[in-house]
Amino acid sequence: MKHIHFEEIDSTNTYLKKEYQNLDNLTFVTADFQSSGHGRNTREWHANKGENILMSYLIKDKNIIEHFSYVSMFSAVIVAKYLESKGLEKVTIKWPNDVYVNEKKIAGILLEGTYPNYLIVGIGLNLNQTDFDNKELRHPATSLKLENNGGSFNIEAERKALISLFNDLWADFKGDWLMYDNFIKKHNYLAKKRIKLSSGASIIEGIVEDIDSQCNLLINIGKEIVKIDSGEIIEIL
Ligand code: BTN
Repeated sequence: MKHIHFEEIDSTNTYLKKEYQNLDNLTFVTADFQSSGHGRNTREWHANKGENILMSYLIKDKNIIEHFSYVSMFSAVIVAKYLESKGLEKVTIKWPNDVYVNEKKIAGILLEGTYPNYLIVGIGLNLNQTDFDNKELRHPATSLKLENNGGSFNIEAERKALISLFNDLWADFKGDWLMYDNFIKKHNYLAKKRIKLSSGASIIEGIVEDIDSQCNLLINIGKEIVKIDSGEIIEIL
């Protein structure tokens, strides 16, 4: 496993996008600070310097890249497992790939790539930050420290622990995308919630029934259950 760390960089995702040709599968890049951190849908990702885990990893295995929705869920599962290993309860995954604790967002995941060349998984995990501009944020945020009664974490040790968990679980991965099926169903933040979602050009409203084994969100819209493979939750009603 290769790990490259920067004190400061524009974005760990952008670095891998520029350098992927020279780097191996499962190269991890982390930074103390990002000057142009970005999230999904061209949003910005702000994180105080040296307080959070900002990391991206590179996948170059074509057979894995083509299953990007599983990769995204798999990554959220690993973050959720890591948080549970720190003693946190009420950890959930908000489809498609945010991680929540006690109804607040603790981690966001951004996938970028071009098939069949590369897939980059970027993860922003709030560790020791306690001040969040919740008025500016679309969702209230939390951090490991806030959920740990204010006890701080050693960022370097946690960064290493998270990377080795990712590395180990990917190294053990034998193509069984259903191995976390039950975990995903049990940790479904949206389960039984009424939501409004945009998917392509359509807006869909209904009650979330489940996440199926292809990582589709199943929404009961009254007369039928629709399967959504990608989209953005606009509102929880
Ligand atoms: C989201 O919730 O919209 C996804 C946020 C992803 C943020 C991470 S931080 C590390 C990596 N580099 C970036 O610029 N973005 C991702």
